[in-house]
Amino acid sequence: MVDFTILVFSVMQPYDEIAQPGSRDRELLEELDPNRLPRHIAIIMDGNGRWAQARNLPRVDGHRAGIRAVRETVETGARLGFEVLTLYAFSTENWKRPRHEVLTLMALLKEFINRELENFVENNLRFRPIGRIEQLDPSVRKALRRAVDATAECDGTLVQIALNYSGRQELTDLVRGAVNEAGAGSVAVDDIDECWIEDHLTTHGTPPLDLLIRTSGEQRVSNFLLWQIAYSEILFCPTLWPDFSRTDLLQALIEYQRRERRFGGLVSDGGVFAPPGTAKV
Ligand code: FPP
Repeated sequence: MVDFTILVFSVMQPYDEIAQPGSRDRELLEELDPNRLPRHIAIIMDGNGRWAQARNLPRVDGHRAGIRAVRETVETGARLGFEVLTLYAFSTENWKRPRHEVLTLMALLKEFINRELENFVENNLRFRPIGRIEQLDPSVRKALRRAVDATAECDGTLVQIALNYSGRQELTDLVRGAVNEAGAGSVAVDDIDECWIEDHLTTHGTPPLDLLIRTSGEQRVSNFLLWQIAYSEILFCPTLWPDFSRTDLLQALIEYQRRERRFGGLVSDGGVFAPPGTAKV
């Protein structure tokens, strides 16, 4: 007897998992050059509060609705083969928000891990929190640890969630570490170059950040990945985060591929000289 499940999977194109033939998303997908997709994408998921306000709902409902967009973005990114997807979920400045909002965001994060961890493992996604994790509530740290441990062997897309994160703090922590190590003699001051710094960022081991997207129409970087954005393309998308869809992501990727990336050189000439110690771009 023919096993139809095997038959269906064997005739399925990789794109069929993302969008049905004939759909708008499929047309967008087919506009993309699969060989020039960004390896590392980061997103500032902004606009949850305004989304809720426009519906006369409490702000936290906007965050809750934002989870759908997180799930869809992770799923599409993984299917497209992103190496890294970094999401800004909670900045160090977000502690200034009302206690109820902060507690809800932390609860949503734990809920997300509880619901999605199995999917992460099944789909070979690795989970990594970045930021001052040690300052979070023990129950949050426990959930994060569980997600890190459960996905430690996965080698598909790395999903980095920035929590209690700030780019300035990341660099401050790094400078402190460098001074301590140099003082203890474990690194020579002259060996502290761009490569050393990259190896000591919270994002160490990840490819350069190719594309930073901020939703909601705000045009700011808001203390996110300050070192890492050196040569990133930055794209501001008007959609409020809870409405951010696969279509928005595909459109952002098309816009990214339209841009000419020169990294300070000339497109016609890859260049031959990189000063020693400079980081990859
Ligand atoms: C910014 O919108 C969004 C945040 C501060 C939180 C983002 C969190 C989520 C999408 C849900 C939890 C995430 C994960 C990964 C489980 P805002 O509240 O500043 O919006 P506003 O500018 O319209 O007020």
